[in-house]
Amino acid sequence: MSGPLLAIENLHVQFARSEDQVYAVNGVSFSIHENETLGIVGESGSGKSVMLMSSIGLLRENGKITAGTANFQGRDLLKLRPKQLEDIRGRDIGVIFQDPMTSLNPVMRIGDQIMEAMLTHQYAGRKEAFERTLHLLHEMGIPDPKARFKNYPHEFSGGMRQRIMIAIALACEPQLLIADEPTTALDVTVQMQILALLQELRRKRGMSVVMVTHDFGVATNFCDKIVVMYGGQIMEMADTDQFIRKTMHPYSLGLKRSIIEVGHRGKAIVPIPGAAKTMTQAPAGCPFAERCPYRTERCDNEVPELRKLNADHYIACHRAEEVASLAV
Ligand SMILES: Nc1ncnc2c1ncn2[C@@H]1O[C@H](COP(=O)(O)OP(=O)(O)OP(=O)(O)O)[C@@H](O)[C@H]1O
Ligand code: SF4
Ligand SMILES: [Mg+2]
Repeated sequence: MSGPLLAIENLHVQFARSEDQVYAVNGVSFSIHENETLGIVGESGSGKSVMLMSSIGLLRENGKITAGTANFQGRDLLKLRPKQLEDIRGRDIGVIFQDPMTSLNPVMRIGDQIMEAMLTHQYAGRKEAFERTLHLLHEMGIPDPKARFKNYPHEFSGGMRQRIMIAIALACEPQLLIADEPTTALDVTVQMQILALLQELRRKRGMSVVMVTHDFGVATNFCDKIVVMYGGQIMEMADTDQFIRKTMHPYSLGLKRSIIEVGHRGKAIVPIPGAAKTMTQAPAGCPFAERCPYRTERCDNEVPELRKLNADHYIACHRAEEVASLAV
């Protein structure tokens, strides 16, 4: 295939609340190609989950997609019926959710849950599904797959449950894996093990991965491309090497300063002043303006478009070039 595997164009998502509207996603466009890994970062509430989940038909009842397209293998996912989307989810697009305890069925043996994923999508017959499940458990690093097949989710540690979630997501060998904070709930060592496992599985299968994470380090270590979101918009999008060498957006720079970078342990952590707000109006200017040290009048009155700096780098900031030279 020459074009992207998934291309999201101008996606807008709103939620109705009793008193007002939430403008959760405001004109997002990006694409992911075969064999590519994309990391989506941004503070809590920036629209990462809503953007991804809405494009695969997982939107809460009070939510509405008001504009956009999401082309996957030549079909606009946003135009499909729920049953068609269900077919694609799990078969062509695997999904890993943040909390395995809420996504696994507590009263069903884990082996049956993995098998069910294959049987529902008619990926394999019963016997083959059973064999494949044992193989998948082994591949996920779960010792003694035959015995563990019969266990229930509560009989596993957090890290092991996450491995089972991955097995379910990969049961039908999807081309695309969407992982929404797959390691956030785990301690650092287990987090690293799960990421290493994901990395290995991705390479082996030649699969594409979109991973949402709060953790900049995780994104830059794991992903080919980085997307930084704020206020339901993409602030910066770049090839990872380019992004590490030449971060340009004031928000991305702020995020970078607010974490401990490997090799810079002595460096002080500088949090971004202020906090992200829920967007209850359509953006009229830059969503980051209130917290940005480079804000000008234009920033309040004109929404910065995501523009191309070069083939591998896009930015939504009126003053990106000046900021980059000041921040060196
Ligand atoms: N069902 C809903 N009703 C109203 N507002 C919602 C709903 N779901 C999400 N939102 C709002 O949409 C915005 C984007 O939420 P989203 O869950 O995508 O953020 P996120 O970037 O994934 O954050 P986190 O890192 O905490 O997971 C937030 O302001 C959130 O409060
Ligand atoms: S557009 Fe203005 S407010 Fe927004 S990030 Fe750039 S300089 Fe800051
Ligand atoms: Mg989220």
